[in-house]
Amino acid sequence: MRSHYCGEIRPEHLQQEVRLNGWVNRRRDHGGIIFLDLRDHRGVIQVVFDPDTDASFALADQMRNEFVIEVVGLVRLRDPAAINPKMLTGEVEVLGQQLTVLNRSETPPFQLDEHSEAGDDVRLKYRYIDLRRPEMQEKLRIRSRVSHFVRNFLSSYDFVDLETPVLTKATPEGARDYLVPSRVHPGQFYALPQSPQIFKQLLMISGFDRYYQIARCFRDEDLRADRQPEFTQVDIEASFVDEAYIMALAEEMLIRVFDEVIDVQLEPFTVLTYADAMQHYGTDRPDLRFGLELIDIADLMTEVEFKVFGVPAKDIDSRVVALRLPNGDRLSRKNIDDLTSFVGIYGAKGLAYIRVNDISAGVSGLQSPILKFLPESVVDELLARLQAENGDLIFFGADKANVVNDSMAALRNKLATDLDLYECPWSVCWVTEFPMFEQVDSSHWTAVHHPFTQPIGSIDSLLANPGKTSSRAYDVVINGYEVGGGSIRIHDPQMQRAIFQVLQLSENESEAKFGFLLDALKYGAPPHGGIALGLDRLVMLMTDAKAIRDVIAFPKTQTATCLLTAAPDNVPEKLVRELGIRVHNPN
Ligand code: AMO
Ligand code: AMP
Repeated sequence: MRSHYCGEIRPEHLQQEVRLNGWVNRRRDHGGIIFLDLRDHRGVIQVVFDPDTDASFALADQMRNEFVIEVVGLVRLRDPAAINPKMLTGEVEVLGQQLTVLNRSETPPFQLDEHSEAGDDVRLKYRYIDLRRPEMQEKLRIRSRVSHFVRNFLSSYDFVDLETPVLTKATPEGARDYLVPSRVHPGQFYALPQSPQIFKQLLMISGFDRYYQIARCFRDEDLRADRQPEFTQVDIEASFVDEAYIMALAEEMLIRVFDEVIDVQLEPFTVLTYADAMQHYGTDRPDLRFGLELIDIADLMTEVEFKVFGVPAKDIDSRVVALRLPNGDRLSRKNIDDLTSFVGIYGAKGLAYIRVNDISAGVSGLQSPILKFLPESVVDELLARLQAENGDLIFFGADKANVVNDSMAALRNKLATDLDLYECPWSVCWVTEFPMFEQVDSSHWTAVHHPFTQPIGSIDSLLANPGKTSSRAYDVVINGYEVGGGSIRIHDPQMQRAIFQVLQLSENESEAKFGFLLDALKYGAPPHGGIALGLDRLVMLMTDAKAIRDVIAFPKTQTATCLLTAAPDNVPEKLVRELGIRVHNPN
């Protein structure tokens, strides 16, 4: 057994005999002396073999990257010229005396120390090797510390850790379900939970008062860098509470976990209503590390001849906004063309702009293809509203509100990234008072959060005007990422039925899908509410990882496959038949 970890050898161990285990990170042959960098999860130490220890010297010469070895040797100081200040063990080395090969390794499919060169696919196929990289180890260890902290924190507040089923019935969170066929009940399926939502509510009805679970959730949806088909939530529910309680609890937990695990002190979270977030940032997950707010200017444009602005300015479902970029004069015509194509991805038909060269010179101090279409008085009012200054570049979005919101929100984020406009490293906000429903088409609604969220107002007002009903839902947003969401729930079965009615679930469908919940609500359901934080997203942000898969040990690809195990996979015909299933178009 080892006496020390590789990464922990320091000058205080001088002249001690140490026994180390680990992987050969690199072998270097310096004319008669062999250096092995030996790596374990605590770091790397340089081991030197010289020809005086013949047997081990000969063996050291045969070592290759990723061989697993044991070394016994003496700690000594490095020559002053050989000190490596970048390594924690850089002042010392171990003079190898015995070397034992514990296991050999084929040449790994990629170099561990040259991160950027290995493609993502090969890293995922050989994930167990990829995870040997110190930076991957670090991320997953931070993840472990975050969950450890969260468990301690929640249990200190009397939350009980309870497990809920994975083989269950559909829980609607807006994605498709992963289905699992039942062998015993041919033709019938379990659904994997999109979240433990309904079960945690049932636990409140059971009187547990405070529940949490670090729960795996499954959602068959289009994947992006911040989404995985299976992911983990810190899932929380409490009884006899209001939104202030849940928000304060989650805020304290996040502030403390950032402090404890990555030594970052977050400011108290800003609170924005959904309406304000949309108005000022065009999104319900605004990144508040920088300004660049959207300013509504439709009222200035109702009478202009320029149709691009004039038509949406008069349409209630449209928006006309300006975004002032200070020092935007550094953007070239080509940059603006590229940004125009960029907003096109979000449906914008163009990206009008005005350069402010010399504000004291009036309209002649401005430069823009649209000036000729705008009366001078409108331009003056516009500049005053925007508090424009010399050097500004003003962008415009005019279209249906959703197009303007999507494109200008994306533009805002892109400008901040491209031009590094961040004024602080972290910014966290709550977004509250979400609408209860959004329109799918002229006669269909869908729940913005989930259908168990408590609407604000009475059943009558809800049924009369679903589109105008807000909800007691809140999201927590860190640096533009939705890290968590929750709400106060419905505890009145009549209200729950009314929601299903708006969603056009018939009595029979409601009964079939959610009868068990509707029943449970009849037997003394306490007022309750909660939240779920996306653990993977949180850790992605805390570790500054580029994608969520970097903080998941065995993640899936963008097409929901596991390259390591080759899942999903075909199964023998016989198994499929036993399940009472027929496969169409097998490939
Ligand atoms: P919601 O659907 O908002 O709420 O999910 C909560 C949080 O989970 C994270 N998340 C994801 N992370 C990675 N990959 C995904 N595919 C993915 N989908 C969601 C996000 C999100 O904020 N039952 C409710 C919570 C509640 O009301 O208490 C729920 O699941 O960070
Ligand atoms: P056009 O009249 O289409 O040549 O457009 C004149 C200017 O307005 C160009 O700079 C376009 O990029 C811009 N533009 C066109 N449509 C929109 C829109 N919907 N929102 C913002 N700018 C637009």
